[in-house]
Amino acid sequence: MKHKSVLTKELMAIIQPESGKLYVDMTLGAAGHTKKLLEMSSPDGKVIAFDKDIEAIKNAEKLKEIYKDRLILINSDFSKLEEHLDRLGINRVDGVIFDLGVSLDQLKSDRGFSFNIDAPLDMRMDRNKPLTAEVIVNHWDMEEIEKILRLYGEEKFSKRIAKQIVKMRPIKSTKQLAELVENTIPRNVSTKIHPATRTFQALRIVVNDELESLQIGLKAAIKRLNVGGTVCVISFHSLEDRIVKQTFRSYKQKGILRVINKKPIRPTQSEIRNNRQARSAKLRCALKIKEEDDR
Ligand SMILES: C[S@@+](CC[C@H](N)C(=O)[O-])C[C@H]1O[C@@H](n2cnc3c(N)ncnc32)[C@H](O)[C@@H]1O
Repeated sequence: MKHKSVLTKELMAIIQPESGKLYVDMTLGAAGHTKKLLEMSSPDGKVIAFDKDIEAIKNAEKLKEIYKDRLILINSDFSKLEEHLDRLGINRVDGVIFDLGVSLDQLKSDRGFSFNIDAPLDMRMDRNKPLTAEVIVNHWDMEEIEKILRLYGEEKFSKRIAKQIVKMRPIKSTKQLAELVENTIPRNVSTKIHPATRTFQALRIVVNDELESLQIGLKAAIKRLNVGGTVCVISFHSLEDRIVKQTFRSYKQKGILRVINKKPIRPTQSEIRNNRQARSAKLRCALKIKEEDDR
């Protein structure tokens, strides 16, 4: 099964890609949104697409044959947006989209993102980085593990799980960790999601420094948008959504952004039926209406 892009229609209806404009896709993934931006901004709209996972960039190389210099691929964390725009001699862009989290290609890989696939505890999007989930699970203090499970997994049983992790070391595989969490959470607690979901989310956030990247990347995107340009973010859990909501609010108060949709846009039931990955997606968009003062 291939990755299916989420909320594409809703996203494009707001961005309204046009020929001659320049867009940034901060999260290339399987390139669904990038392709749509290129198609809709034909004949000469351009897209700069970031992914810190080299596999996503390699898979998109074939698009270069079709779109030539209308597509620029960058293998980097999107928090480095400004550095790359400067390197390319670009001052402002007309639209920026983020579609956070992992792609289905990553989830289905043997890189440790999913508790449904037995694999080493890795979870790195960028495999040049030293920190893996295995390092956290087997080498960090119990208190540190408890803290990340509580903060980034919003896990009620963070203490019990952290204690059990330390007791059962070494833990080498996703299956071993998922079973440990399942056996640690009290039996009478019923949840709609797999009991290990929150633990895996917390580890992935820390391994990939996801919230910090989002904070930096979103501010950089707003700074480098033209007045009249749109920034859109699709998030998949409350921690990400909170950052987007609060950032938009603070720029709105400074008169820099106008929030386009006060309530997040959710996928339709039919999209969710076709794509389970879409079920927790939330789309928030804002229009830049004024330059920041520190220009
Ligand atoms: C949900 S997928 C994007 C799917 C894409 N929109 C599509 O239509 O196919 C998220 C992608 O963003 C990448 N990613 C996540 N955080 C990133 C970051 N801070 N910098 C660069 N890429 C990131 C992941 O490696 C993954 O490939």
